[in-house]
Amino acid sequence: MSDHAIDLTLNGQRRAATVEARTSLADYLRLDAGCTGVHLGCEHGVCGACTVMVDGRAVRACLMLAVQADGSDVTTVEGLAAPDGTFHPVQQAMREAHGLQCGFCTPGVLMTFAALTGGEDRASEDSLVSAMSGHICRCTGYQGIRRAAKALAEGTVGSGAAVVGGGE
Ligand code: FES
Ligand code: FES
Repeated sequence: MSDHAIDLTLNGQRRAATVEARTSLADYLRLDAGCTGVHLGCEHGVCGACTVMVDGRAVRACLMLAVQADGSDVTTVEGLAAPDGTFHPVQQAMREAHGLQCGFCTPGVLMTFAALTGGEDRASEDSLVSAMSGHICRCTGYQGIRRAAKALAEGTVGSGAAVVGGGE
């Protein structure tokens, strides 16, 4: 199997590596780069646990090869909060809405929501809820995730509106 040199930006840091052609982006991120927040569930594009952002778009890291990320800007859940630890709005929304139970699906959901809410226009609740269809939560914690989506869409993160017991 041939090796390939790749050079990418990972969570704001430039990073060079040599990877086998068959190495998935998920395996590279978890095993080589130490980003173990990239979870692997199904490993065939169904569960969404491995979702990361590549050049601002949500991508299944189990379906992308590491060599395909050469030259890209990759963000994992480890790179979502500000350097001082301040939560990204999607993290804050999920926290307030109790959008997680065991947390296995959570990094993937966060990255999908971050990709959808990162543009200039606020993502609609419909688009966020629709994107949830690409994520399987084995704890079936969908109501909390949905509350987080609603708070993000309505711009009420931090207001307490999504806090469990304050909404539905
Ligand atoms: S592990 Fe990638 S979609 Fe399930
Ligand atoms: S919180 Fe457990 S899988 Fe979603």
